[in-house]
Amino acid sequence: MTTLTLVQGDITRQSVDAIVNAANSSLLGGGGVDGAIHRRGGPAILEECRGLRASRYGRGLPTGQAVATTAGELDARWVIHTVGPVYSATQDRSDQLASCYRESLRVADELGARTVAFPAISTGVYRWPMEDAARIAVETVRATDTAVEEIRFVLFDERAYTAFAAQAG
Ligand code: APR
Repeated sequence: MTTLTLVQGDITRQSVDAIVNAANSSLLGGGGVDGAIHRRGGPAILEECRGLRASRYGRGLPTGQAVATTAGELDARWVIHTVGPVYSATQDRSDQLASCYRESLRVADELGARTVAFPAISTGVYRWPMEDAARIAVETVRATDTAVEEIRFVLFDERAYTAFAAQAG
């Protein structure tokens, strides 16, 4: 049985098995969630990301895919890095955004993670409209068969929280 919870706050302060990072293909850090996770999680995360670039992901992690590393100093066991699509008004990339949630849960299941915190992927720098991103996020996790017991959406502000609450019912 998977419960869906919504929290307004900072994803780097969550005590869960896995924290999902809204990364970019380089896996070498950035701003927003990515910057916060690397800042608070410390260098061990970036070290493992560099290792992934040197081994499996020489050309970067493709959009919609997910890969796990240590969580470093965060109160979690793993960070699951996923790359959201940049919003496009002309091209429907909804499947790629849905894939971020599906693939992150698949990786969580491989790890045996029972509690997973997600940010609102693609709704910041990647400019995806919040309401539509919330719809895709909630619909996708509800449609995904997973052993994860708690899926926690961690929303940074009121606007995001309201949008996700409207979808979560
Ligand atoms: N905790 C929870 N949510 C956060 C936090 C935080 N500490 N910081 C930002 N957010 C929210 C933003 O307000 C936004 O709603 O996370 C959502 C996603 O925003 P971004 O982090 O900008 O991620 P995204 O839109 O997917 O863009 C990814 O941004 O930071 C770079 O390296 C990253 O290139 C990648 C791109």
